[in-house]
Amino acid sequence: MCGIVGIVQRDSTKIGKNIIDSLRKLEYRGYDSVGIATIDNDQVVVSKEQGKITEVIDKMQLDDLHGKIAIGHTRWATHGPPSKENSHPHTDCKNEIAVIHNGIIENFQSLKEELVSQGHEFQSETDTELIPHLIEQLMQEKQMNLKDAIIHTARKLEGTFAICVLSSLEPDRIYCAKRDSPLVLGINADRMFCASDIPAFLSHTQQVVLLHDEEFVTLSHDGYEIINFRDMKKVNRKPYIVSWKPEMAQKGGFPHFMLKEIHEQPSSLADYIRIKQPSLNKIAEKIYDAKKVFLLAAGTAHYSTLTGENLIRKYAKKACSAIIASEYDSVSPLIDEETIVLPVSQSGETMDTIMAIKDAKKLGAKVLSAVNVIGSSITRHSDEVLYLYAGPEIGVAATKTYTAQTLSMWDIGLEIGKISGELGNNEYNEARRLFNEIPSVVKQTIVRSEALTNRIASWFAKKSSSFYLGRGVNLQTAKEGALKMKEIAYIHSEAYPAGESKHGPIALIEEDYPVVFIAPEDQTHKRMIGSIMEMKTRGATTIGVIEEGDKEIGELVKWKIEIPKGYSEMITTIPYVVPLQLLAYYTAVRKNLSPDMPRNLSKSVTVL
Ligand code: AGP
Repeated sequence: MCGIVGIVQRDSTKIGKNIIDSLRKLEYRGYDSVGIATIDNDQVVVSKEQGKITEVIDKMQLDDLHGKIAIGHTRWATHGPPSKENSHPHTDCKNEIAVIHNGIIENFQSLKEELVSQGHEFQSETDTELIPHLIEQLMQEKQMNLKDAIIHTARKLEGTFAICVLSSLEPDRIYCAKRDSPLVLGINADRMFCASDIPAFLSHTQQVVLLHDEEFVTLSHDGYEIINFRDMKKVNRKPYIVSWKPEMAQKGGFPHFMLKEIHEQPSSLADYIRIKQPSLNKIAEKIYDAKKVFLLAAGTAHYSTLTGENLIRKYAKKACSAIIASEYDSVSPLIDEETIVLPVSQSGETMDTIMAIKDAKKLGAKVLSAVNVIGSSITRHSDEVLYLYAGPEIGVAATKTYTAQTLSMWDIGLEIGKISGELGNNEYNEARRLFNEIPSVVKQTIVRSEALTNRIASWFAKKSSSFYLGRGVNLQTAKEGALKMKEIAYIHSEAYPAGESKHGPIALIEEDYPVVFIAPEDQTHKRMIGSIMEMKTRGATTIGVIEEGDKEIGELVKWKIEIPKGYSEMITTIPYVVPLQLLAYYTAVRKNLSPDMPRNLSKSVTVL
């Protein structure tokens, strides 16, 4: 939540445009307001406004800002509603120090009260504003220089933060510090970057330096210096070359990132399959040997862990639960040295998940994770990591990372099946053959279902409520499909176990009420027919995601979306979700909504 970027460049042209270019790549992290601070004629100049970049860019003439140094922020509001006053950067009383921040300062109330009693005047309701005032106070009261005052401030802050500080007192550098919120450096001969995420500078450099918690950075033309702000030891960390390509963070001819990312799934899944990771076997063995296993994740990632839960129970024959990370406290008493926790995350920065694994580690658990963003916080807390290799995902609604997460769960599950002997040689090889075909099945599914889902969307867009029903492993598909419809098309969508729907929810069904069934030809097929009949009888309009050639259900539902044959239980959760992603996307488009930037959401939820 909140995107931050800082640039120090050799020439003084177009710094505003450069910052805006980077902020556009970070807008998925929040889009309540935008702001930039530069130094012009030895003065800190702040331009900020409420709204998305496209809404405010002309009004603020951000493109015209000049200088060699700037920091920029795109906000997801926490403390104080979206407004110009609450937009970042925030400054001290003398307007010499400007700060941008991502995270939450937990002790802000007490620090702010102290600063107010010392005469500081605040302009906003944010927690962030205390930071420039605290730096100013330390410089005045303790005669500290700017760098020491920032370090002392970082030590005093409780909670999470990635901060960038720019000051007219030292106009050639940006200072940064971080704890629990993401911050990376991008290294280029002409332009140095600090940012919340790599796409911010990917079109300029693939040389990345990852920053760790409690680190402080000085960024200037001459390079970067990292120290630990607790023990003040120098950190020597060289850049690494990220394999992501600049075009991965661009729309590539698609109207929205979300549609591009849906279409990227055949290649992102193929990348995952192609890259053999040594951690896979280690993870499977450790899970097989463990006494207890908890999968931890939030939102879409949680739904992918339901596949993991299913397969670990089935193949390792052991108690295993997929826990929503923010509900972790309920299982904390069960965690010990014989426990494995398996966090799954796209960003690797979801605070609910990080807090849960930190607690589990303290209690002795081993952490084995499946994460997309290399070097993210969760990977650093992990004993082993399985990377998803889905590339950068910019659309706020997770699509290609959900299928990659689910594929990684199957990957782990199959290895456990082999180790445990639950899958004999032939069964294992057959399962692997089907596994390797998934990218092409997803490709065929997109080709076959795109026009149809677009048509169904014109009807769905007029609805205010819907059901998504599934059984067995595809209950998770129903949940993910309903979440997509909710988050980008703002249509209330409830996922329910199909068999359970008759125990209450069916009361909501009336003429033309939308019910989506996820109904592959597996052992749940017969019972799904019963559920479809129950809904139809009461007037529902039914949509079936079914196996190609399934006449029985095909003739019952109003719209049938067919998935290539031959993939019953085995990995249906991946292709069957694809039409639901497309349905949500086209419904949002029909409603003139922005699928990439749904209201109230942020891609990376770094608050508790
Ligand atoms: C997905 O569409 C969401 N917006 C959200 O549920 C997301 O999956 C969740 O916040 C977890 O994020 P993570 O995978 O980065 O941990």
